[in-house]
Amino acid sequence: MRRLAVLGYPVSHSRSPAMQSAALAELGLAGEWTYEAIKVAPDELAERVAAMPGEGFVGANVTVPHKEAALALADELSETAREIGAANTLVFEGGAVRAENTDAEGLLRALPASSSGKRTLVLGAGGAARAVVWALVREGARVEVWNRTVLSARNLCEEVGGTPIPNPDPKFEYDLVVNATSVGLQGEDTFERLPLTAHRFREWQTVVDLVYGSEPTPLLAAAAADGAKVVDGIEILVQQGALSLEIWTGREAPIETMREAARR
Ligand code: ATR
Repeated sequence: MRRLAVLGYPVSHSRSPAMQSAALAELGLAGEWTYEAIKVAPDELAERVAAMPGEGFVGANVTVPHKEAALALADELSETAREIGAANTLVFEGGAVRAENTDAEGLLRALPASSSGKRTLVLGAGGAARAVVWALVREGARVEVWNRTVLSARNLCEEVGGTPIPNPDPKFEYDLVVNATSVGLQGEDTFERLPLTAHRFREWQTVVDLVYGSEPTPLLAAAAADGAKVVDGIEILVQQGALSLEIWTGREAPIETMREAARR
């Protein structure tokens, strides 16, 4: 058996086990590979990861709140993971732990069009926002970063690029808007917490919400009602998961199967 897992805290809400198990079955690997969810508290992460290769694990996804800690305990880092400062994928190989980040490329693949040259507003300056800003800056987007705590936006932009802004453009002329805060996760009022106004989205805009859970989020519901294109957090989950699966198995990921399983 080759075992895979997602490590998180909490982790019971994760759709990765259903999505990755469906993918392994579709590839005819269900008899040899497994994917499970493991709840790991922050102070147990290093010990847990160190034990995994001996228990038959060949790789893992890491999710909130472990993405930065995972980087610190890895023996080797991909350039992307190092530059972003966070990892969502681990590979156990030859006694070493390798850290990769597929969140950045997953976001780009989830977008309906290239973001090159596009004026973009990213909301948030936490771990998720770092991967988003890093990806969009490398893709050639013009990225403005708003965050409740201005200092974090400033620090993020110094490290990965983009321009920190105290307030978004009053005309709201953004081609792309990405919510990379956790607002919406606990049912907070998006339009109270974030500098966004419902009924102000336009048809030519694309609005992305990394938050997933109850679909659609209030943000995406409002954007869709105004005719904007929307990309939800599940689509990004699917794309990053597909890239992780390809790293572990060397096989092309069955995207449609993964999408169906993640949305079920
Ligand atoms: P993640 O790893 O998911 O990015 P995080 O690092 O805890 O999680 O970051 C959470 C992000 O959501 C931050 O940008 C945070 O803003 P602050 O830096 O000001 O804390 C943002 N956030 C969380 N709750 C918020 C709220 N009620 N209003 C506005 N922003 C919020």
